[in-house]
Amino acid sequence: MRLVLLGPPGAGKGTHAQVLSKDLSLAHVSTGDMLREALKAASPLGLKAKAYMEKGLLVPDDLVIALVKERLSRPDARKGFILDGFPRTPDQAKALDASLKELGMPLSVVFYFKTSLPVVLRRLTGRRVCGKCGKNYHTQNFKPKTDGFCDVCGGKLIQRPDDREETIKNRLEVYDKETFPLIDYYKKQRLLEEIPGDLEVKELNLVLVGRLKKSWS
Ligand code: AP5
Repeated sequence: MRLVLLGPPGAGKGTHAQVLSKDLSLAHVSTGDMLREALKAASPLGLKAKAYMEKGLLVPDDLVIALVKERLSRPDARKGFILDGFPRTPDQAKALDASLKELGMPLSVVFYFKTSLPVVLRRLTGRRVCGKCGKNYHTQNFKPKTDGFCDVCGGKLIQRPDDREETIKNRLEVYDKETFPLIDYYKKQRLLEEIPGDLEVKELNLVLVGRLKKSWS
């Protein structure tokens, strides 16, 4: 299975990619996570990406495409993957098509998480992440057992810098302009499956599993 999860910031792509990748033993390829790791490590890529990410803008296509191309060539991804947060521009989508053609691994399905603006805003402003292991929480939906600390590693929970209100606005504008056209792109390729992104996690997971079974049979 080779999946793409597409949708606005806060739609739940990362949350559901984590669950599905575990259940289906697929590599979880999140460009946001990879870029945040590069930033933490202050690598050359991280230093280049920093200013864009802080403003809620997209990191230039050539950097992200090279990152994903390398990641998809690794053995675990050759067995199947979930792309979370990539592609995000028409040029990224075209580069992905070309790479997958080269590797002989066409996409199975693109899930579009159709999510309303109030839901997205609530999810983003309430999201907290572990500063140590990156696990996701929410101030209302997914509270940790001990307030302010990660259940898994005990790390301190923080707000992602780009989850502040002024940056969220930029991210949503960038999504509308750069990423929304991909819905049409994948519709034309008959790969797009629309998912009701406003659903709560358990319900949404059931929808995803049902759709996967359908496209597998
Ligand atoms: P990235 O990390 O990819 O951010 P994003 O796409 O904006 O997505 P988010 O992580 O904000 O949302 P999500 O859909 O994963 O939601 P989540 O599951 O966390 O990218 C960050 C930055 O990196 C970009 O702005 C850009 O600068 C750069 N970048 C990344 N990829 C790039 C690319 N391809 N090209 C160029 N630049 C790139 O859920 C959000 C919250 O809601 C959580 O608290 C969660 O617990 C809760 N929640 C989730 N699902 C549900 C549900 N069903 N019900 C209730 N609560 C839910």
